[in-house]
Amino acid sequence: MTGYTPGEQPKVSGLIKLNTNENPYPPSPGVIKALRAIDPVRLRLYPDPVSSALRKAIARLNKCSEDMVFVGNGSDEILALCTRAFVEDNGSIGYFNPSYSLYPILADIRDVAKKPVELAAGFEWAMPAKYNASLFLMARPNAPTGMNYPLKTVSSFCAGFKGVVMIDEAYADFASDNCMALARTRKNVLVMRTLSKSFSLAGLRVGYVIGHKALIAALFTIKDSYNVDFLAQTLALAAVNDVSVMKKNCARIIASRRRLATALEKLSYTVCDSQSNFLFVKPVGMKAAEVFGKLREEKILVRYFPGRRTGDFLRITVGTDAEVNKLISVLKTFSLALR
Ligand SMILES: Cc1ncc(COP(=O)(O)O)c(C=O)c1O
Repeated sequence: MTGYTPGEQPKVSGLIKLNTNENPYPPSPGVIKALRAIDPVRLRLYPDPVSSALRKAIARLNKCSEDMVFVGNGSDEILALCTRAFVEDNGSIGYFNPSYSLYPILADIRDVAKKPVELAAGFEWAMPAKYNASLFLMARPNAPTGMNYPLKTVSSFCAGFKGVVMIDEAYADFASDNCMALARTRKNVLVMRTLSKSFSLAGLRVGYVIGHKALIAALFTIKDSYNVDFLAQTLALAAVNDVSVMKKNCARIIASRRRLATALEKLSYTVCDSQSNFLFVKPVGMKAAEVFGKLREEKILVRYFPGRRTGDFLRITVGTDAEVNKLISVLKTFSLALR
């Protein structure tokens, strides 16, 4: 099988890095203060195996009980645990195409059947009648398109689905709505969040999932003893107790996203309607792969996913104002050169 290819973490400095949907702004001062206050001698001891204090804070933030919260070493760990907890050996894993490219790889690792569902021509929701799987992995907002499916459509899909629906809300803090109410009310729905994007903590590796206590208990049964380390628990607790800076950063990113989308539309690019911290765009006059290469020469790194559905597009993370300005001016020069 082929493994997952993470976005490049460049070794050279001076690149504008718009390729892995990281947050361009620093984490909240509360996190930085908590990091400075850590006594290194405490690392002698194992961490709390069930992340009690952090789960309590996450439960408060999401208006649910602690037994409805599971914390993982990044949301990628939680996705892998779901494929073990909720899929029998003769079961199947469903997901949309295109979506987060890790989903089919997790099915391969688990060695179970894959049941991909092709999105419509403009990457909108499309679901065959009577579709079922043991587990459906759904990114909302979707990656790499950044688009949201209508809440009502998702809700009625979950109501009719026999297996577990994992709604991966990695980018929900940049969106106008979310599915958390479904996780609180439906027995077969999990909603997952990460601290990697909106909280500016991709390097920390913390994600969490909310859902019915029976589903959460299943994840606890199979997890590694100490899946979330002491530093991660301590700093994530500081982050979720101090969400005001995170929210301000999200508002800035949403404003920059709109500005970038408008600028690219002026260059006649096709721009998917993004509810996330990135844009999925189709250049004009030049192939996406070529624009990717030329941006790289200009020290701007974006993400290109070859393939039938995604190969005409580039995924661009929304950076700081200065980064967005630089990107726009470079892309303008490409367009002018075509005239
Ligand atoms: C849709 C989606 N889910 C999950 C993740 C992984 O998040 P984490 O850093 O919490 O493992 C990503 C990262 O890019 C993502 O795009």
